[in-house]
Amino acid sequence: MTRERVVSPLEQKNDVEVPGASTPSARPQSLEHYLGQTELKERLGIALQAAKVRSGPMEHTLLYGPPGLGKTTLAHVIANELGSKAWVTSGPALTKGSDLVGTLTRMDAHDVLFIDEIHRLPAAVEEYIYPAMEDYKIDFTLDSGMHARVVSYALQPFTLIGATTRAGLLTGALRSRFGLVHNIRYYNCDELTDILEQAISFLSYNTVSRDALNRIASRSRGTPRIALRLLRRVQDFALVKEDGKCTLEVVDNALALEGIDEAGLDQLDRMYLQTLATVYEGGPVGVEAIAATMGEDSGTLEDVVEPYLLQIGLLARTRQGRKLTQEGKKIAAEH
Ligand SMILES: Nc1ncnc2c1ncn2[C@@H]1O[C@H](COP(=O)(O)OP(=O)(O)O)[C@@H](O)[C@H]1O
Ligand SMILES: [Mg+2]
Repeated sequence: MTRERVVSPLEQKNDVEVPGASTPSARPQSLEHYLGQTELKERLGIALQAAKVRSGPMEHTLLYGPPGLGKTTLAHVIANELGSKAWVTSGPALTKGSDLVGTLTRMDAHDVLFIDEIHRLPAAVEEYIYPAMEDYKIDFTLDSGMHARVVSYALQPFTLIGATTRAGLLTGALRSRFGLVHNIRYYNCDELTDILEQAISFLSYNTVSRDALNRIASRSRGTPRIALRLLRRVQDFALVKEDGKCTLEVVDNALALEGIDEAGLDQLDRMYLQTLATVYEGGPVGVEAIAATMGEDSGTLEDVVEPYLLQIGLLARTRQGRKLTQEGKKIAAEH
């Protein structure tokens, strides 16, 4: 079977971002500019080097962790480091196995296929991916009914990078097919300050003192995406209200306007703590109950709110449910 016959209109139906699409310039393009995550970078550095020495594809890699910590960015960085292209799609965009045929057959050797929210991949697509991951081949059905036949098609060796906020929802079968599995962690204040400094140079924003950046970083829930957003808000605020001067006081005023408190908690965090403190007397209580009371989606609480509150020790997870720690109770009472 020739390649041409396989690259069919099917690929127009699926939602795969073709390589070369514009990426925001604050995004680091190389491992050198991907700051923090030292341990992960070391593991990746080895995997990248090994791939080069073997002249093969890099190991399939699973990245998991809360939103905004740099999973998508890292997938592009890896493709750049490999000198290859990244093809981007997501679990919910793929509904059936054949949605991937067009992309998989068009990919060049050592390209990267990035599947975001891979925990939402339908079972049918997942099964389709196993032989692609293991043997670089796909089986698909041509025609239907009596004339149906299964054709096996050899792919170029590629690297699958999966990203998820919920590693726990992945099937064991899928998870075990990744050679590298890594948890992307929250960044410390210094690392976030470095990221902000670098973004300022990438975007040629007005310079801001390290102290002021550090203040923004300390209120960003350990998350680059939040830090970068707050930096933009602070810059706007300084521009409009203070002739562009970014003093610590200006930073504080701008962040207060954004509803960010001194611990870096936002409105949703505070509402969660208060609900748990006042309605459920500090817990333990199930996340579904908290979500129902708040009128929020429990998935958002689990993906976005809880990991950070757990990390900074305001919340504990017990077998009976979520529970405020002493510190958590104190913070909840302050608001
Ligand atoms: N390690 C890092 N170094 C520099 N910038 C980063 C880093 N991680 C994330 N960023 C920045 O934070 C933003 C959010 O990252 P992203 O990759 O979209 O997160 P995720 O895919 O995990 O939700 C990106 O625009 C990127 O510029
Ligand atoms: Mg992402």
